[in-house]
Amino acid sequence: MRATQTKPKVETTPTWRHHHILDLDDFTREEIELVFQTTRAMKEILSRPIKRVPTLRGKTIVTLFYEPSTRTRLSFELAAKYLSADVVNLNASVSSVAKGESLIDTLGTLQALGADIIVIRHPHSGAPYIAARHIEASIVNAGDGWHAHPTQALLDLYTLYEHKANLNGLKAVIIGDIMHSRVARSNIWGLTTMGIGVTLCCPPTLLPIGLGEEQLPPVKIEPNIELALDGADMVMTLRLQLERQKSGLLPSIREYINLYQLTEARLARAKPDALVFHPGPVNEGVEISPTVAHGPQSVIKEQVANGVAVRMALLYLLTGGHKQ
Ligand code: CP
Repeated sequence: MRATQTKPKVETTPTWRHHHILDLDDFTREEIELVFQTTRAMKEILSRPIKRVPTLRGKTIVTLFYEPSTRTRLSFELAAKYLSADVVNLNASVSSVAKGESLIDTLGTLQALGADIIVIRHPHSGAPYIAARHIEASIVNAGDGWHAHPTQALLDLYTLYEHKANLNGLKAVIIGDIMHSRVARSNIWGLTTMGIGVTLCCPPTLLPIGLGEEQLPPVKIEPNIELALDGADMVMTLRLQLERQKSGLLPSIREYINLYQLTEARLARAKPDALVFHPGPVNEGVEISPTVAHGPQSVIKEQVANGVAVRMALLYLLTGGHKQ
């Protein structure tokens, strides 16, 4: 392979200063734009017949998942492999965690085994922050409880950016189970940092904790879905997290569907070129109708595909690739 083909070509002034990726609340617009530019370079690599460069040769990346995942875990694994890193997947349910080993001890073991980056998903909000305080390896938050899922928000932003080069002033609507959604929280940070107005639409019982305080940036709240969708450029529906619902938050699933399902008729209230997002997994027929999920405005499959390139970009930036 020619030397020019081995290094992703990123034409930008380096502004990256993160050793960990825990959430987007500490990302600047310039840093998000650097992720976009780096992702574009990674997509060029992914378009080649042989999708592999030696950029991360000698680096060890561990995925440590305490909760189920398809998209996030597989895309990190593929991203690491395409960059020639050694990648090890540790499923907490079949590791020594099942024998009672603590998070800190598990992380210490992974550090001792030479991990450079640990990608962690954990059911408890804040677990990646504890991890980041205890080890030298870079920690990437792949979803912690209800709190944050920054790499999902970055791939959502990148997918939007591919369609609408000027993000400033767009209107995004996030519909559904926002309280339990780490995706929504990280997107609120990322979207507002990029100058996008955010409207949340959900039953009052599913509004996130921290709204109106310093825990989240300012957003609009519109519980009526038709009014919320008026003039929207980006519509994100969220999975109704049945496993995280406490009794009493919703009168019934049928009523939720009647009031909050994204249907073709409702989507018609948004701009004609509005894009439909869903982080997955999708409950088709609950938060989104099958015709919208598979319709011409849906970018759900693009989100999944972009997940690999965005995570390649993040692994590259974390290991200092843009400075070499
Ligand atoms: N969006 C998302 O986090 O999907 P997975 O649970 O499949 O990783």
